[in-house]
Amino acid sequence: MARPNVLLVVLLGLVASIAPTTALTGATNLTETIIYPFLMPDVTPNKDELYLCTPIKVDPVKEYYIVAFEPNASMHTAHHMLLYGCAKPGSDKPVWNCGEMQKSEMSTEGSTTASPCGEGSQIIYAWARDAPKLILPDGVGFRVGGDSTIQYLVLQVHYMFKFPADKSDNSGVFLHYTENSLSKLAGVILLGTGGGIPPNTVEHLETSCMIKENKVIHPFAYRTHTHSLGKVVSGYRVRYNEKGDDVWSLLGKRDPLTPQMFYPVDDTSPILSGDRLAARCTMESNRDTWTKIGATNKDEMCNFYLMYWVENTQPLEQKYCFSAGPPTYSWKQAEPSLRHIPDFDASNL
Ligand code: CU
Ligand code: CU
Repeated sequence: MARPNVLLVVLLGLVASIAPTTALTGATNLTETIIYPFLMPDVTPNKDELYLCTPIKVDPVKEYYIVAFEPNASMHTAHHMLLYGCAKPGSDKPVWNCGEMQKSEMSTEGSTTASPCGEGSQIIYAWARDAPKLILPDGVGFRVGGDSTIQYLVLQVHYMFKFPADKSDNSGVFLHYTENSLSKLAGVILLGTGGGIPPNTVEHLETSCMIKENKVIHPFAYRTHTHSLGKVVSGYRVRYNEKGDDVWSLLGKRDPLTPQMFYPVDDTSPILSGDRLAARCTMESNRDTWTKIGATNKDEMCNFYLMYWVENTQPLEQKYCFSAGPPTYSWKQAEPSLRHIPDFDASNL
């Protein structure tokens, strides 16, 4: 890798100007958290619908625990923000174009795009309109730096409109963190599908995975993501009873076109080894052509993110639960053990 940019070597814990503050209400029983302002470095979006990314490298010698995410309140220009934890960033520039939805525009601008993470990508925070700060449950934190899998944090901001040349923006997130080690660690597992949606139809995109790691997983927040065809996205914990019957408990469901931030789960009871996670996206297409799963606005996505914590152990090694999607995969076709699918509930709010 090229010589790291100055921005990249700002270590999370070594910023002199940050003062300890009292913990956010209900945050934890920690006596104090420290705030790191992770903001865009005064960028001027030079076109509409631009996704920009900026990284920080976290101290590889010492662990930090992020306990709350506070969006920079002064922003009215950002459509959404995502915070990624990465093993490696997608670029070594201080700011780069990281547009998920605009691959089609890439050649016209001659600018290069790179994804937020180069390696080991996970979303740990999402902000969209009206989202308040996200405070993790008492004593829970995302472990970053040190020997954790998160060595970089990358902030992605979606700017809807081109700025006048004399205006700039520093939207971002105030990270509330502590250096005191926490026993409850947060993690995210992403459920999603590949496949495609036939023309002029309502299609179900489904995925499901058995949890095989011997951990007690406490779910607490979820986020849904589709592009424009999504009607309902639902996620479930499926547990098999003594008779081998599948019992479905709703983790959360919503209209994916409402702000795509993390919401509290419906049922916080633990997910155990031998349980299954399952998610369905109900998509309605009035298009005359197939819509494939992909990154641009013309494509679709079916994603259900589940945020959880574990105690005295590491978060799941399994970060993803993806299926091939339709027409290859459906719960019914692929999982004979799923005999009590809540077909109506999974697709209706
Ligand atoms: Cu957006
Ligand atoms: Cu997408």
